[in-house]
Amino acid sequence: MENVYAIMANGQKQATWGGRFSEGPAELMLHIGESVSFDQRLASFDIQGSQAQAAMLAHVGILTVEERDAIHAGLDAILAEVEAGQFEWDQALEDVHMNIEQTLTQRVPAAAKLHTARSRNDQVATDMRLWFKDACLQLDASLVAVIAAMVDLADRTQAVIIPGYTHLQRAQPVSMAHHLLAYVEMLDRDRKRISEVLDEANVCPLGSGAIAGTTLPIDREFVAQELGFVDAEGNPRVTQNSMDAVSDRDTFISFASACATIGVHLSRLSEDFILWSSAEFGFVRLPDAFTTGSSLMPQKKNPDAFELIRGKSARLSGNLQMLLTMVKGLPLTYNRDLQEDKPPVFDSFDQTQLMLDCVAACLSGVEADLARCAEAVADPALLATDVVDYLVERNVPFREAHHVVGALVGLSEKLDMPLNALPYDQVAPIHPQLGEDWTMVFDLQRALEARERTGMPGPKQVAARIAHWRAQ
Ligand code: ARG
Repeated sequence: MENVYAIMANGQKQATWGGRFSEGPAELMLHIGESVSFDQRLASFDIQGSQAQAAMLAHVGILTVEERDAIHAGLDAILAEVEAGQFEWDQALEDVHMNIEQTLTQRVPAAAKLHTARSRNDQVATDMRLWFKDACLQLDASLVAVIAAMVDLADRTQAVIIPGYTHLQRAQPVSMAHHLLAYVEMLDRDRKRISEVLDEANVCPLGSGAIAGTTLPIDREFVAQELGFVDAEGNPRVTQNSMDAVSDRDTFISFASACATIGVHLSRLSEDFILWSSAEFGFVRLPDAFTTGSSLMPQKKNPDAFELIRGKSARLSGNLQMLLTMVKGLPLTYNRDLQEDKPPVFDSFDQTQLMLDCVAACLSGVEADLARCAEAVADPALLATDVVDYLVERNVPFREAHHVVGALVGLSEKLDMPLNALPYDQVAPIHPQLGEDWTMVFDLQRALEARERTGMPGPKQVAARIAHWRAQ
């Protein structure tokens, strides 16, 4: 297996770990062992980590300033090649770390000293923490875009009244804006979760070595500071147990969990829009650009984007489950199983970002169908609860009032008449507190304006919440 051997500075061929081996790995071993096919996306973080490591080694006198600068420049050149798509990745060199280090070593003799006091175990942990910090910032930006699009749609639908549902049965009237703003609350909690993941990632494991640190006089705080693993005051944050640092995958789980939760929120949102855009509901029209037709039925306009988002959310929970299962039985510390930790978090990131970006774009093209909404909310029975409140205000005990309105609903079914059209001479005998004015309750505007306490769907409450989100 010639190709697993790299040319060392002295011209000899040797695998980085090959010193004690008399033959190279089998073709299948290379195949199962390689991770460069998926971890090459860590290249920029790996290079950042190596440059900080070289700076630290020079700082403590293990490298000369010239060696540090040569390593630094060599890594800059590799980064440029990676970004231009010109770097040659070799699966025989297993992973992103060895590919970069070996190429650098062929060009810069001093690079043979770069791995001093470092193992791929603390190296990959560091790369991933840098990756998580970056991924969290990107997801936060995408969450903000969805929130902005949703708040815009809520702004446009403050005056649109629809039935709110429980058990998927019409329950009570709400503004469409109030319904949509429920999702903004969820997405705002998602932002908090993502920022907590970022904080969890923001601790430097470099210097933990393979498991037990090093005998060399390294400066962990220096390297942490170089890499931006610092607290609000700029003080370095470093991991406190080398064995934990190389085997801990909590941040992977927290990240996948935050993505899975975003997925659940987007899936519920999708389900609402799928229902609302159906002929049965007809509350909204979806933008053509995010729907598809049928190859057979010419009239179809299918809500594919939302269906795919609902489907992809299953992938996000699967990724979380995969990580939990993978880590559960592992003895301390690093085990090669842990190489499998990256595909699920990369996938969770890619899919979550795609889902968020699609939702944001789709929401901006959603139109409410005012006539269909008005039709759906026209049933006066939606305000039966407000009749109960009317009686309670007239000192009727709630349980009794509920019973009375039950009788009114029964009467409306018996006479096959809407609740607000019942003849008063048949209403009055049901309860003495049912005054002739009882039908004033059946005014949707009035019903919403009566709900102006915190968190309720009153128009002022909703407007204030829209202003609150806009101010953020
Ligand atoms: N590619 C490896 C991973 O992602 C890097 C760490 C390798 N460590 C080792 N002891 N073989 O986990």
